[in-house]
Amino acid sequence: MIAKNIFTTLLVALFLVSCGGGDNKEATKAAAPKLSPDGLTQAQLEHGIGPIAAMTLEPMDEALSAKGKEVFDLKCVACHKTNERLVGPPLSGVTEKRSPAFIMNMILNPDEMVKKHPEVRAMLAEFYVPMTFQNVSQDDARAILEYLRTL
Ligand code: HEC
Repeated sequence: MIAKNIFTTLLVALFLVSCGGGDNKEATKAAAPKLSPDGLTQAQLEHGIGPIAAMTLEPMDEALSAKGKEVFDLKCVACHKTNERLVGPPLSGVTEKRSPAFIMNMILNPDEMVKKHPEVRAMLAEFYVPMTFQNVSQDDARAILEYLRTL
């Protein structure tokens, strides 16, 4: 008798869970962010794909930008100039064109950016060469970003 009661309770519980589950699924579907045709969220389109979420910049930091110039001269000048096309596009004004997080993600995660972000894919079609990761730490990427603000 007790066993039968437990069985009935389990059945009822199962029924409730499966119905509830169905409802939840609908709710998640409705709340999921709308994806672009490339399967990216609006945030990824604006801020890129990678470890950095949207960020706001403080007023310019000269010491940080000087450090960024050093890293840039070491790791980026083979492909980038300020005002002319080289292997890659000129980077003057890039901080007006792209969000800070987009630039950070391009430096830290170029492989995925080139593969998945429609605007970077379009650049690849123009420059033919995919930008590759230059072994830049997150701190150094932040310093480079500060330097790019001065160009
Ligand atoms: C091997 C050459 C190469 C190196 C090295 C390189 N890049 Fe690039 N970069 C490119 C190319 C080419 C593109 C255009 C997208 C593509 O084809 O991958 C690009 C795109 C970019 C963009 C996006 C520009 C835009 O208009 O949106 C930024 C920002 C950038 N690079 C920054 C850097 C920084 C900072 C470094 C140094 C850490 C660096 N790149 C090193 C080749 C390079």
